[in-house]
Amino acid sequence: MRMSKRIDNLSPYLFVEITKKIAEKRAKGEEVISFAIGNPDMPTPTHIINRLCQAAQDPANHRYPETAGLAELRQAIAAWYKRRFGISLDADREVLPLIGSKEGIAHIALCFIDPGDIALVPDPAYPVYKVGTILAGGKPYCMPLTEENDFLPDLDAIPKNTAKKANLLWLNYPNNPTGAVADLDFFNKAIQFAHQHDLAVCHDGPYSEVAFDGYKPVSFLEADGAREVGVEFHSLSKSYNMTGWRIGMVVGNAKMIDALRRVKSNLDSGIPQAIQYAAIEALSGPQDCIEKHNTIYQRRRDLIIDILSDIGLSAKPPKASLYIWAKVPKGYTSLEFADDLLDKVGVAVVPGIGYGNHGEGYVRLSLTIPDAGLVKGLSRLAGWRDSKNKFKAKK
Ligand SMILES: Cc1ncc(COP(=O)(O)O)c(C=O)c1O
Repeated sequence: MRMSKRIDNLSPYLFVEITKKIAEKRAKGEEVISFAIGNPDMPTPTHIINRLCQAAQDPANHRYPETAGLAELRQAIAAWYKRRFGISLDADREVLPLIGSKEGIAHIALCFIDPGDIALVPDPAYPVYKVGTILAGGKPYCMPLTEENDFLPDLDAIPKNTAKKANLLWLNYPNNPTGAVADLDFFNKAIQFAHQHDLAVCHDGPYSEVAFDGYKPVSFLEADGAREVGVEFHSLSKSYNMTGWRIGMVVGNAKMIDALRRVKSNLDSGIPQAIQYAAIEALSGPQDCIEKHNTIYQRRRDLIIDILSDIGLSAKPPKASLYIWAKVPKGYTSLEFADDLLDKVGVAVVPGIGYGNHGEGYVRLSLTIPDAGLVKGLSRLAGWRDSKNKFKAKK
C-alpha cells in the first residue's frame, strides 16, 4: 500500500497527541487535571436541546439536508449578525452554515490554493489554517504574533514579493491561543493590505461572544469594505456550548461563499437538520446564557492568573477568548515545562510550540475546566512551585 505524500507529511493533530499523553497517565490510575483543550465544560442550554429533540422526532429531518443549509438557519444567522454587529447580510448569497467552522476553515483552502500557492498564516495559531493550506498543496507563510506587537501580525514586515504571490490572509481575533483582541483600525489596515496585494481575507472569529470585563469584540465585517475582500468564520461551539453538535457558519464575500459552497456540495451532504433547528433556537432564542457563562469564565480566569503569577509565570488577563497565554519560567522550553507539570503534579497544559515556532516560550491554559477540577488544578500548580523550592533548598 502506498500512501500519498500528503498523508506522509501530515503531523498528528495537536490535541490527539495531548489527549494520548493524558489517557496514558489515566490508564496508569493517575488523576490528571486538564487545562489543555478549549472544549466548553458547561452543557448546551436546555431550550436549545429541547428544540433539537423535538426536531429529531420529525421525519422531515431524517433525510439528506441541503449543502446550503435551511433557509431559516441562514436567515437566523443574518439576523444574529444584524443584532450583534449591526451588519446586514444577504442570507442567500452571503451566509453559509458549516459542519462546525473547522470544516469550512480547512475546505476554503481548496478554493484559493493551487499547488505551490502561498497563504499568510499567523504563528502561533489554531493549526487548521496551516494544515488546510498544506493539504491543498500550498505553502503557509508564517506571520509571527509577538507580545511586543500585541499579538497582531506586522503586515508591513511581510516581504512584498511574498505578499504579492500570496492568495489568502488568515486572521483570528479574539485570538487562540494568545487571547489577544483586535480593533477596527487593525482590520481596516488588513483590508487595505488585501486590496494592495489582491488577497482574500479569512477572518476566524469563534470567540467573539466569550469576553470579559464588559469588553465587546468587533466583527471583521464591521470594518469598511471588509465584504469586498473577505469572509468571517464563526461558530456556535463556544458561544452556546455546542462543540459536540458541530455547527458553525461563514459569512461575507458572496464570491468566496459561493466557491466554498461548490466545494462542499461535492464533499459533504450538509448539516443534520435537527442540529440546524437547534442552531436557529440558539441564535434567535434567549441570549442570557452568554453572560452567565462569561461570568463563570471570568472568575476562573482571575483565579488562574493569580496562581500563575504566584508560581512565576507571567500572563496578562485576556479580554476575550477561552485562553490564558502564559510565559514559561526561565530555563524551560514550552514542551519541557508542559511535560514537567504533567509528570510532577498531573496538570495538563498545551505547550506553545504546538501552535507554531513563535509559540515557543509559552503555554496555553483553557478556562473550560469545571470548578472542582479548577480548585484541585490550582492547588497542584502551587504544589509544583513548592516542589521547586524544596528542590532548590536541598541543592
Ligand atoms: C480559532 C478557532 N477557530 C475555529 C475553531 C473550530 O471550532 P468549531 O469547528 O467547533 O466551530 C476553534 C476550535 O477550538 C478555534 O479555536
